[in-house]
Amino acid sequence: MRELQVQTKTRTYSVYVGVELLSKLPSLLSQHSIETTQKLFLVTDSHISALYAKPLLESLRSTGYDVTLSVIPAGESSKSLETLDQLYEEGIKAGLDRSSVVIALGGGVVGDLAGFFAASFMRGIPFIQLPTTLLAHDSSIGGKVGINHRLGKNYMGAFHQPLFVLFDVSLLSSLPVRELTSGFAEVVKHALIWDKSFVSWLVENNQALKARNLSILEEAIYRGCKVKISVVSEDETEKGKRAILNYGHTIGHALESISNYSHYTHGEAISIGMVGAAMLSVEMLDAPAQLIQDTESLLQSFSLPTRIEEPWSDEALLQIMKRDKKAKQGNYTFVLSRRLGNVEIVNEIPETKIKKVLKKLKEVGT
Ligand SMILES: NC(=O)c1ccc[n+]([C@@H]2O[C@H](COP(=O)([O-])OP(=O)(O)OC[C@H]3O[C@@H](n4cnc5c(N)ncnc54)[C@H](O)[C@@H]3O)[C@@H](O)[C@H]2O)c1
Ligand SMILES: [Zn+2]
Repeated sequence: MRELQVQTKTRTYSVYVGVELLSKLPSLLSQHSIETTQKLFLVTDSHISALYAKPLLESLRSTGYDVTLSVIPAGESSKSLETLDQLYEEGIKAGLDRSSVVIALGGGVVGDLAGFFAASFMRGIPFIQLPTTLLAHDSSIGGKVGINHRLGKNYMGAFHQPLFVLFDVSLLSSLPVRELTSGFAEVVKHALIWDKSFVSWLVENNQALKARNLSILEEAIYRGCKVKISVVSEDETEKGKRAILNYGHTIGHALESISNYSHYTHGEAISIGMVGAAMLSVEMLDAPAQLIQDTESLLQSFSLPTRIEEPWSDEALLQIMKRDKKAKQGNYTFVLSRRLGNVEIVNEIPETKIKKVLKKLKEVGT
């Protein structure tokens, strides 16, 4: 088991990464001074519950913990006011109090929802993240929690840092292949924004990663978490530096939104978005054209899409980008790159440049 430390102004906490870690949860709880008198509220989704909830409940209960299990339907639609209300109701009925601890066992959906429940229940109770998707190496760290409104994604939320994060890499064995692939996009993003040697490592270990070699996956997650931690430690509440984590996300979010989140997974959309950001970097910062090729071939090696293959209009995509909260006062702001492993925030990007990039992204097979 490897351990990383997240240091923010509000909390310092550990991220544990390793294989076969779930069974270590009871002893970690006691190491973190969580007494058996404190009630536990284990939140998970219907898919994960069927696979992992039973042994976890048994090991917690046999250690003496009073655990209530709450199972939400799997999928993004559970990041809703309705499901949050279901958690409040179950939590109150279970007799949770201010000393109770929420445990989020799942991907970004469970982590964001259960984390927001913990942030708001009785003005905030502690919570623990047990990520089960590759993408969740990103979402479980940093304390951003929240739910969607029917008019848009992540409109309600909070910053609420977990007590600790326990990433059992073995759980990724059962992850559907499309979800694993989607998660690689965030791993690639962490390498592209921060660490050129991580980019080379991903190229070298591509086959082993796709084949789910657990020790190689563990290394990728460890390195990805390290980047995320470095960024959020400098800027906990996204006032400056943390925005670089949005590399590829401006175009990516537009692609997710235009199809009402039904066409691309998050990772697929930001994969195309990162190629767009590399293209825009060549336009705006005179980055070498090689940056586009390197970005694209790395993403393709993980079987991620790199071009827009649907006839969505540029105007509609631009409208969404304008509404994006990163587009301040109607100007386009993007995270761009001059070279692999390094990015910067660029304001005042002319619309003509973005249109040019969208056109290129629609030229399939170049
Ligand atoms: N808070 C943040 O900083 C942050 C960052 C990035 C993304 N997010 C959020 O994360 C969400 C997406 O998260 P996600 O991609 O993990 O999706 P998800 O939580 O919906 O999980 C994807 C699917 O995989 C299933 N699954 C999860 N783990 C499994 C396992 N080990 N074995 C088998 N099936 C498993 C789930 O049931 C679900 O059907 C989005 O809502 C996004 O907004 C949050
Ligand atoms: Zn993302």
